[in-house]
Amino acid sequence: MARDKKLIIGNWKMNLNMHEASLYVHSLEKMIKVRRDVEVVLAPTIFTLQSLSLQVNRRQFKLAAQNFYWRDSGAYTGEVSATQLRGIVDYGLVGHSERRHIFHEHDKDVRAKVQAALRNHIRPVLCIGETASERANNETEAVLHDQLIGGLANITSEEIEQVVIAYEPVWAIGTGQNALPVDVTRAVKVIRSQIRHLYGKQAADSVQVLYGGSVKAESAADYLAIDDVDGLLIGGASLDAHAFSEIIAKAHRA
Ligand code: PGA
Repeated sequence: MARDKKLIIGNWKMNLNMHEASLYVHSLEKMIKVRRDVEVVLAPTIFTLQSLSLQVNRRQFKLAAQNFYWRDSGAYTGEVSATQLRGIVDYGLVGHSERRHIFHEHDKDVRAKVQAALRNHIRPVLCIGETASERANNETEAVLHDQLIGGLANITSEEIEQVVIAYEPVWAIGTGQNALPVDVTRAVKVIRSQIRHLYGKQAADSVQVLYGGSVKAESAADYLAIDDVDGLLIGGASLDAHAFSEIIAKAHRA
């Protein structure tokens, strides 16, 4: 997808049951228009994905998986594969800080999932970002480098254009403490320069990079105004259809 389109992803995390999810989509449908310059993506729980995939107009919303396993099939009790999600979702979150920190996913899991997504025609949204203590120790740049190299190992220069990178400082997620636009600008520059180093200028110029971490309707425009930022990954505020539709409207105007 070209960078002239803003990408707005709502990550519902472990919220909304099937009924609530369906009501939410009904009300959001009425609030937003299909815009050629904004792609709206909903990431419900895996459990509600299938029913929403039947409900949503794919021109209006795309769907994303919050998580999936990297093997295509087999004896992996409780897991869902990217192969099973193929055709249902267009995107898949990978390496979200909650997966890394609560469920102990490491770079080797993250990179296997990035590859599984691509193999199944799902665009991986690779989430990277430093913790509060890494930030305090001035390690942000090193963490971004390591997580990019760790997550993108074996990805070719043709594949990299399918990958979306989300800069999500861990200390900003769900805390109400959003990163300052100047910090986001700096981090996104680091990300693009690392992509340039790994894949060349064309890839660095075309890869989509998002910001996520306590974005609210009031703060969305500040990030969308940053040249290098191509969209937002929204947790808490995406659960409120009004707030989310306001953010989408701002992306249209950005
Ligand atoms: P938040 O979550 O907007 O609630 O901080 C962002 C995310 O987890 O992607």
